[in-house]
Amino acid sequence: MLTIHDKTFVPFIAAHEIQQRITALAAQINADYRDKQPLMVVILNGAVLFAADLFKQLTMPCEITFLRVSSYQKTGSTGQLKQVLGLSEPITDRDIIVVEDIVDTGLTLADVCEQLRESRPATLKVATLLFKPEALKRPLDLDYVGFDIENRFVVGYGLDYDGLGRNTQDIFVLSE
Ligand code: IMP
Ligand code: MG
Repeated sequence: MLTIHDKTFVPFIAAHEIQQRITALAAQINADYRDKQPLMVVILNGAVLFAADLFKQLTMPCEITFLRVSSYQKTGSTGQLKQVLGLSEPITDRDIIVVEDIVDTGLTLADVCEQLRESRPATLKVATLLFKPEALKRPLDLDYVGFDIENRFVVGYGLDYDGLGRNTQDIFVLSE
């Protein structure tokens, strides 16, 4: 069990299952990008642990960079637009793999992909460790998915609850 702030979390996905799944995803990516030199774009902060473990298992020449996403209220609109911050590498004509920790509503990733596409990458694919299909609010093509999970709140292995809980090897779920 894991206690963070006022909440209790119980084991959900064990470290060895996570690593096994990442090995399989890496094999797929190694096959798909065999003759390419992709640029992995990692969404901070949650995806850092997943991205590091995945990146180590890629065998083609491969680059890595990071971006941050900020939310701000769009004037005259209901939704929050997530804005991409801090991407320093040019991505035009590059083969981009966006790496995310979890896709929940999908709004973050949809905005990120839309903004990256404006720079005309050669290709753009998405890798996410976790996916909550029931929570999805915008259609999204996810190319590499670690685990489909139920619509429950999870922490660990990069994912946080109010800033804490990222530094574990296993993933935990909020106890009901
Ligand atoms: P989305 O825009 O709703 O897909 O939200 C994606 C972001 O919300 C992720 O990058 C996470 O930072 C956060 N998030 C969504 N679900 C969870 C969860 O179960 N645990 C921790 N963070 C989550
Ligand atoms: Mg995140």
